[in-house]
Amino acid sequence: MRMMRVKTYEEMSALAASMIGAQVILKPDCVLGLATGSSPIGTYKKLVESCEKGLLDFSGVRTVNLDEYCGLSGDNPNSYRYFMNDNLFDHVNIDKANTHVPNGFAEDLEAEAARYEAFIESLGGVDLQLLGIGHNGHIGFNEPTDHFPATVHTVALTESTINANARLFERREDVPTQAITMGIGTIMKADKILLIAGADKKEIVEKAFYGPVTPEVPASVLQLHRNVTVILCEN
Ligand code: F6R
Repeated sequence: MRMMRVKTYEEMSALAASMIGAQVILKPDCVLGLATGSSPIGTYKKLVESCEKGLLDFSGVRTVNLDEYCGLSGDNPNSYRYFMNDNLFDHVNIDKANTHVPNGFAEDLEAEAARYEAFIESLGGVDLQLLGIGHNGHIGFNEPTDHFPATVHTVALTESTINANARLFERREDVPTQAITMGIGTIMKADKILLIAGADKKEIVEKAFYGPVTPEVPASVLQLHRNVTVILCEN
């Protein structure tokens, strides 16, 4: 594991975007695993800037997102599909047909979970997976529990995650209580993992990467992955 400590969100974003950009340059048809949330917004901005300057070409890139809320369609501004279009896909030369987010609006969520897992496999796996981390150590929507979920699955969100997400919704009742997410096993299959964490995550990052590996701190499993970079913002 490589732990890179930087001073500002700006530096964290620039470094993360450099790593993702390098991946795109080295393998123009790579599969990027992407995340939503406040952590990657700056990274996506930098990628958009590089693309606008003609330094990056996304035309061959395929993407798979980690997760999506259940019950929200892609045109709902709170959906993760909307977030991805708004923060990245609408501003780079990617073919939208090559961008994938689990369908949280599917009627049969179990079938959708199985389809998404098989679909990632069919792309040949993820070359570089970008992750954020929750204050409770969650990655994707894999919340602390007694086991590491292997594959894409639906989850009931914990009270703390619902509360953390409530800031983005008009009313607390509108916050979805279920999500569909890559499993820990799905994430661990990625060739390379890049986790970015802001200053408010310092404590959980220490716990996850220097404490015991336990499903009670889901991100701790990343200690067992052979190619993980963590960029931790210290201020
Ligand atoms: C988002 C995701 C979540 C977030 C995590 C941190 O797709 O999978 O695990 O990465 O909740 O969120 P922020 O970056 O908003 O602190």
